[in-house]
Amino acid sequence: MKKFLALALALVMVLALAACGGTGDTPGSGDAPAGDQVGAGKTIGIAMPTQSSERWINDGANMKAKLEALGYTVQLQYAEDDPQAQVSQIENMVSQQVDCIVIAAVDEGTLTGVEAQAKEAGIPVIAYDRLLKNTDAVLYYASFDNEGVGTAIGQYIKDAKDLEGARKEGKSYTIEFFMGSPDDNNAVLLHKGIMGVLEEYLNDGTLVCKTGRTSFDETCILRWSQETAQQWCENYLSGFYADEPLDIACSAFDGFSYGIRSALESAGYTSENWPLITGQDAELMAVKNIISGHQTMSIYKDTRLLAEKCVGMINAVISGTEPEINDTSTYDNGVFVVPSYLCTPVAVDVNNYEEIIVEGGYYTADQLAG
Ligand code: BGC
Repeated sequence: MKKFLALALALVMVLALAACGGTGDTPGSGDAPAGDQVGAGKTIGIAMPTQSSERWINDGANMKAKLEALGYTVQLQYAEDDPQAQVSQIENMVSQQVDCIVIAAVDEGTLTGVEAQAKEAGIPVIAYDRLLKNTDAVLYYASFDNEGVGTAIGQYIKDAKDLEGARKEGKSYTIEFFMGSPDDNNAVLLHKGIMGVLEEYLNDGTLVCKTGRTSFDETCILRWSQETAQQWCENYLSGFYADEPLDIACSAFDGFSYGIRSALESAGYTSENWPLITGQDAELMAVKNIISGHQTMSIYKDTRLLAEKCVGMINAVISGTEPEINDTSTYDNGVFVVPSYLCTPVAVDVNNYEEIIVEGGYYTADQLAG
């Protein structure tokens, strides 16, 4: 009887774990069959970029929890945006002969040496959210449609400001750009997506960028630094917007948007002339700022789904099967096109955050109220 009860309990636990795994999308072919502790005796190294942004803390925690539930041992490391620290962390993982390494790079350019070491040691490498460039050591890439993030931001601005209507009436809006890190492929694609929508309005004067800084090279901010974004915004406001307000701050990251908010407050902006401010990641603070009117929108990226897809890739490389892939043409890393799973980004603002974020279980209403 005791044996039967123990077995029944084990079965209930396994079913509960299997139920926890899903967030809506169909499970990948690399997902572990229910009840199989595919990770038993295996160690996964996870190299994350920084804890300075909430998004990466959540990504790390999600991945760790999901992998541990499958029996894996997890080594989770954060490099605090120091490329050399990340190189050392990955070197350690290689020398410990972990079974798979997942990397969200600080600087895509600095890792080719350690990636080659991993390959040499027979350790599979998976790129998490940020593409690993110029290497043949990476097997798979789990991310979002990163150009789509930019397109969604551009489209939001176009719709919210009715740029078509403004063009017909000969009306114009001022805009400044705060783009992501030059060593992050996602940042380049995001800028491309934004310009795909907004460029024509910059060209015909419906959008006016008074600093003249619109190219990626002129607007990219190394390591996605909030402080730099704030500094730039302060300089722009005092140097170019003394007589006419800034109408749109096109920000590629919630962290920038916090810095932009501070700069605007210091320059005396109020709800009367507060600009449209975009963002990315739908961090808790960003959604609170959306509710209070200090940020207009953000891009929601369900990191639970991303982690689930990446775990499917890990299971596949561990068990010698094929993971779920939905893109085999977009992410050429300079050596080959990396087979990818791309999740869909969603624009959120004050009108849809309850439906998408709260009802979707990403944050509770209590978290947002606190
Ligand atoms: C990610 C974004 C994030 C940014 C800054 C990018 O690689 O795709 O979601 O906002 O890094 O951390």
